Amino acid sequence: MHPSDSDLAASSAPPAPATHYDTSRHDEWAGAVEGVVRAAVSQLNLGSDECPAVELIDAAVLDAQIASLKAAFPDNWLHAYAIKANPLKGVLARVRAAGLGAECASREELLHARRCGFPARALVKFGEALEPARIDDLVGLYRRHAWLTCVHCHVGSQGCSTAMLVTGVRAAVDFARRVNAAVARRQVVVIDIGGGLCTNYRSNEPAMAGMSFADYAASLRATVPELFTGEFEVITEFGRSIVAKAGVTLSCVAGLKSCGGVPTAVLHTGANQFVRQAYRPAEWFQRLSVFGRDGAVRRCIAARPMVPHNVAGPLCFSGDLLARALPLPQVAAGDIICIHDTGAYCTSMYSMYNSRTPLPVYLVARSAPPQPGARSDYCFTPIKVQSTAQTLAFWE
Ligand SMILES: Cc1ncc(COP(=O)(O)O)c(C=O)c1O
Repeated sequence: MHPSDSDLAASSAPPAPATHYDTSRHDEWAGAVEGVVRAAVSQLNLGSDECPAVELIDAAVLDAQIASLKAAFPDNWLHAYAIKANPLKGVLARVRAAGLGAECASREELLHARRCGFPARALVKFGEALEPARIDDLVGLYRRHAWLTCVHCHVGSQGCSTAMLVTGVRAAVDFARRVNAAVARRQVVVIDIGGGLCTNYRSNEPAMAGMSFADYAASLRATVPELFTGEFEVITEFGRSIVAKAGVTLSCVAGLKSCGGVPTAVLHTGANQFVRQAYRPAEWFQRLSVFGRDGAVRRCIAARPMVPHNVAGPLCFSGDLLARALPLPQVAAGDIICIHDTGAYCTSMYSMYNSRTPLPVYLVARSAPPQPGARSDYCFTPIKVQSTAQTLAFWE
C-alpha cells in the first residue's frame, strides 16, 4: 500500500524542495558504495524475497569518525557517545571498544549502556535556561546544593553553526566560573559541552566546511580556552557526527506506479525508519542513488538522462515519501535504491506503525584491496535481525 495521486495531493506535509542537494553528483556518490551494494547482492541475496532491504553500518567509517573525534580534542576529555543517535548493541560495542563513554537520556538507555558494558558513572542532568534574569537564582541553587558540581549545555542537534555551539559553551563556562567565585572554591569541576555538531547530508564528505571536529576544537580553543587548561574536567556528547555517515540503507524497488505523471518507486522502507524525513521533508532529507538488481550503478548518460521520481515507503499513509520529484536515473522495478548517511536518528527513531519489522542491520568490515585496482572483500556481520514475534511483542 502506498500513496495514490489523491493522497499525494491531499498530503498535509509541508512542501519540500525536489532537491536539497546537487543531484548531478549521483554517479560519484553511487560509485563510492557500488562495491558494498554488489557484495550485499551476492552475499546477502539482497533483492530476494528473503532479503528485500538491509541497513549497513560501515565499521571503517565509524572507526574513522571516532579517530578524528579523539584526535581533535585533548586526550583527557571524556567523549560520551549520545546513544540515542544509534543504540544498536553492535554499534555500542564498537564505540565502547574505542574508549568512548555513553550519554544516556532515559533510565532505559542507562540500563542498555550498562548491559553493553559501559562503566557506571551517574551524572544527573536537568534543564534550566541560562537567562540573564535567572542567573543569580541559579547561582543560589548551586550555593545551596554542594553536590551540584557540573554544568552541562547542549545547544541543539544539526542546524546549529559551530559559532552557535561555541557561544553556548562560553556561556556555560562563564556560569561555572561565576558559581565557583560565589562559593569561593572549585565546586563546579565538570563542564559537559553536549553534542550537536552538524553532519554533512549533501555529499560524501563527513563534515560541512568549518564543521569538522578539528574546526570545532579550534573555535573552542580560541573562545573558551579554560576548557584546555585543566581547570575543568570536560565531557562531550556527540552522536550524529560519530555515526551518521557510517550508515547506508539499501532497498530493492517493490514496484513502480505513476502519481500525477511522476514515476513513484515504492521501497521496503520509508516513514517507519525515516520519521523526520517523511514528516518534515522541507528540513530533513537523505541522498538517494540507484543501482540495477546486480548492484551496478545506474549511471546517467546522455541517452538516459535523470527523470524526476517520487520515492515512497510501504506504509498506509499519504506522507510515506522519501523524495518528491527528485531527479534520479530512470528506476525500474527490482532496482536497488541506496539511502545514504542513515547511521544516526533513523533506526533509533523507528516507528511501529503497521507493525512492520525493522530491517536487518549488518556491520560491514572491508579488507583493504591487496593491490591498487583490486576489489575489496566485504564481511557482513549481523548486528540486528528482529523476528516477527519480537515485533509483535511490542503490542502485548
Ligand atoms: C542532551 C543531548 N546531548 C547530546 C545529543 C546528541 O546530539 P548530536 O547527535 O547532534 O551530536 C543530544 C541530541 O539531541 C542531546 O539532547
